[in-house]
Amino acid sequence: MASTNTASKLTQREAFSPNGKSVSSPKRWDLITIEHLSTDIILHLLERSDYYVEFLQGAGPFQKWKLLEGRTIANLFFEPSTRTRTSFELAERRLGADVTTLTPAVSSLTKGESVLDTVHVLESMKVDAFVVRHAVAGVPQFLSERLPSHVHVINAGDGVHEHPTQALLDAAELRSALGNLSGKQIAIVGDILHSRVARSNAWLLKKLGATVTFVAPETLLPRGAASVFGVEATNRLDDVLGMADAIMMLRIQLERQARGFFPNLEEYREQYGMTPERMARSNAYIMHPGPINHGTELEMESAYGARSLVLQQVKRGVAVRMAVMEWIFN
Ligand code: CP
Repeated sequence: MASTNTASKLTQREAFSPNGKSVSSPKRWDLITIEHLSTDIILHLLERSDYYVEFLQGAGPFQKWKLLEGRTIANLFFEPSTRTRTSFELAERRLGADVTTLTPAVSSLTKGESVLDTVHVLESMKVDAFVVRHAVAGVPQFLSERLPSHVHVINAGDGVHEHPTQALLDAAELRSALGNLSGKQIAIVGDILHSRVARSNAWLLKKLGATVTFVAPETLLPRGAASVFGVEATNRLDDVLGMADAIMMLRIQLERQARGFFPNLEEYREQYGMTPERMARSNAYIMHPGPINHGTELEMESAYGARSLVLQQVKRGVAVRMAVMEWIFN
């Protein structure tokens, strides 16, 4: 699939100023990776998500924004999603956009139409931005390189490559819980090998000065992960329990794995599950991108307990995606 080498050209405003005004003449503002996003832009998006999260608190109605009035956004989810798809839709609607969400199973994709043809068809209906999730790494970049320069692409998770908005919302919630992340210890535990969430989080948390430790069985740690991402790596969850400020549990992605990365789910839980016994030996905040395999990586009580950020992560998802849309269109 498409190379991601040119991502930096496409993902950063060349001359970005934190007040959101462009200085030179950027043609394309896409969000494809965290790896190629500058720390300035990341901090800007996190701060803007703080602004939006404030407005989304409480039970009462709120006034919709008009920022995206006259804009049309198409959400293309070629892989299942609950949190990301719904929160993008809500973010787009709350900013006043017209929104369409393609359901691949009842689209002409089932008649053999290609992803690129589908995007060109929608683009000819005057779509201004595509939010794309696909099982194949590189698809958002591939589309970005083939669309006119005024049409934006936002990566909503591509294969095992990146999930930029997930990492942004995770960092926003970590900052809300821990303050400045410089020097903070964040453990990411589980199926690192198949996890775009782990990759985007590693890039982002390192940019914010945190120390990141990947914790996984050797079979689920990408080769050379420590040096590629500039993180620590260990096979022992028990070693990080006492020092981690936050522990991000990952879902065991049975749909992406050939079996055989670990003997069975019971053994995985014993070695890498955040069990009640391990919860008692740690003061860390607990995070999970969802969906959770309850009873494997995390117990229900811990997932929704006092030290859990899981539901705040979900709530933050809307605010972060509003911030991303504002950055892209403003
Ligand atoms: N965290 C996340 O991407 O969840 P969904 O698959 O439900 O969107």
